Amino acid sequence: MGSHKASSSKVFIDVFISICFVWQSFALEVDKNQTAQLFVNASEGAGRPIPETLFGIFFEEINHAGAGGLWAELVSNRGFEAGGQNTPSNIAPWSIIGNESSLILSTDRSSCFERNTVALRMDVLCDNQGAKVCPAGGVGIYNPGFWGMNIEKGKTYKVMFYVRSSTSMNLSLALAGSNGTPLLASANIRASASDVSSWTKMEFLLEARGTNHNSRLQLTTTQKGVIWFDQVSAMPLDTHMEHGFRNDLFQMLAEIKPRFLRFPGGSFVEGEWLTNAFRWKETVGPWEERPGHFNDAWKYWTDDGLGYFEFLQLAEDLGALPVWVFNGGFSHNDQVETLSVPPFVKETLDGIEFARGDPDSTWGSVRAAMGHPEPFDLRYVAVGNQDCWKKNYQGNYLKFYDSIKDAYPDMQIISNCDGSSGQLDHPADLYDFHVYTSASNMFSTAHKFDQVSRNGPKVFVSEYCVTGKDAGKGSLLAALAEAAFLLGLEKNSDVVSMASSAPLFMNANDGSFTSDTIVFSSSQLYGTPRYWMQSLFTESSGATLLDTTLKSTSTLLVTSAILWKDSTNEKNYIRIKAVNFGNSSIGLKISVGGFDTDTIQLSSSSKTVLTSGNLMDENSFQQPKKVSPKQIPLESAGKDMEIILAPYSFTSFDLLEQHIGSQDGEKLIHLRDPSTEKGSEGKDER
Ligand code: AHR
Repeated sequence: MGSHKASSSKVFIDVFISICFVWQSFALEVDKNQTAQLFVNASEGAGRPIPETLFGIFFEEINHAGAGGLWAELVSNRGFEAGGQNTPSNIAPWSIIGNESSLILSTDRSSCFERNTVALRMDVLCDNQGAKVCPAGGVGIYNPGFWGMNIEKGKTYKVMFYVRSSTSMNLSLALAGSNGTPLLASANIRASASDVSSWTKMEFLLEARGTNHNSRLQLTTTQKGVIWFDQVSAMPLDTHMEHGFRNDLFQMLAEIKPRFLRFPGGSFVEGEWLTNAFRWKETVGPWEERPGHFNDAWKYWTDDGLGYFEFLQLAEDLGALPVWVFNGGFSHNDQVETLSVPPFVKETLDGIEFARGDPDSTWGSVRAAMGHPEPFDLRYVAVGNQDCWKKNYQGNYLKFYDSIKDAYPDMQIISNCDGSSGQLDHPADLYDFHVYTSASNMFSTAHKFDQVSRNGPKVFVSEYCVTGKDAGKGSLLAALAEAAFLLGLEKNSDVVSMASSAPLFMNANDGSFTSDTIVFSSSQLYGTPRYWMQSLFTESSGATLLDTTLKSTSTLLVTSAILWKDSTNEKNYIRIKAVNFGNSSIGLKISVGGFDTDTIQLSSSSKTVLTSGNLMDENSFQQPKKVSPKQIPLESAGKDMEIILAPYSFTSFDLLEQHIGSQDGEKLIHLRDPSTEKGSEGKDER
């Protein structure tokens, strides 16, 4: 399989790491024994293009990344299906308002939707008069969403539900604080018996008059009778392009400019059992008709509001190429025999047609009906996730491969089998490589692809992550090791075409899998050090890798240099990046050659450094940017520079290449300070 545990043979690094667990106060003097020289050849033609697709993101429905995360739906278990199709079923997290003397809650299969037949039945025993008067405020149900709904003053929420009643109906709909007060927005609904004798869709826009990050949605009545509810949804109107993506989380993704979006998993694609795997057809079409499913890989229910269509839309909105991981007939515990796999192949071909087909094709028309007549730009598909080692993988894989290539010859097909240790025994355009390991091993894995074959399929490092005690919930240590790994990928980008970390998101209330890139609650978020580390790689995809030579006394230094164009000003920059993974400063001499050195001038300069006072430092809601890149003035700018790399740091320099035609064709280079475009003359001291 493509999963890889890096070797722990580099004992010196392990020793180094154990030292790192001790709190570190960094020495600021240069250790004279740690020096290095980096030669950068910036001459035209000496570089090599880096694939446009090199750095992207991998979204998995894990840690409530989508349900209760990026997907802005506020209601959890909106169709009451989470307890399964048998009734009476568990309706969590819905709860009762009142008690069983006035209200009986149950489920039945009376829904008007074929694929999700369970509905909630509410037998109201009290009334607004008579022997059993309902308590003030009424009785009913509430849904706290995913650990509380974020309701914000002045924002509008669209609430929709399906209802039917045995009698006339008097209902209150409200967004309220976690124990029912204060009421932040509400509506009263009166309907005659004939209006609601059969399933009726109701839709309301509620504007909040207060803010509460831990709110709930409630439906109450003071009238005796039987009321059924189904498919209850509450969404903020304010989502990215009204596409349903939580704005703040979307923005965080957009800022790191991912070139591809791999989705929807990971293990989520497979499931513990095939019966619980993500099946794309169950996740498209009107939201009310989606059955939802139990994400048994990560042990929570998802209503599949964030379905196959929405993932394709997300990729498009991010300007990223979608990479669809489909189920190849495998879960963690069962698998489909190759003889029986054709229905899975058909389902996959239908899925590709859904994404790419004409609006009048069978599945393209479903996409068009969802509001996207234009095809999505689906060019990459992966046959399963971490399934290579399974008995039927090769047989199933070939069935998918042949059928897909037959229908879509341009489709890039990704195998789960690791081609880095030997030639694959089946055709593929790319192969998956996954690495979850300690920081020291991740650091050494920077060299993993130095020697692999340059012929054959390209590498897709579709999941990399420092895990365990080195990572915490996202430490500086993990980010530095991963930065070194990415520098290695950048250098090997003739064979490595794509790379993404895992997992992307973590709802702080569900830390099933750490470390993650972005952590959030209903109303807050922060990027872990990994997020900020990745932000220094956003310009690498599609750039030119420059030829560099590093001579260093430290084995804990990794560097790279690229030439990239800023599309906003059409200017070229040289970006030099360096990870110092050691506990001593390194005096680094950088020489940039290949220009007409007589005409180089260097003016303003800066460097951007990601480091912190403690190797295990993390960000948090209280200190979201404790470990984040800082701009630091630098004096020694020039074609030959002497700079100091702080211990345990990731440093990036941008040198602006500027041609000034009117000044005798002089070429001006200066180190870029993106925030000020102004440098400071002064000693490079920290
Ligand atoms: O990223 C978390 C999980 O780790 C993924 O679902 C799986 O592919 C890997 O084993």
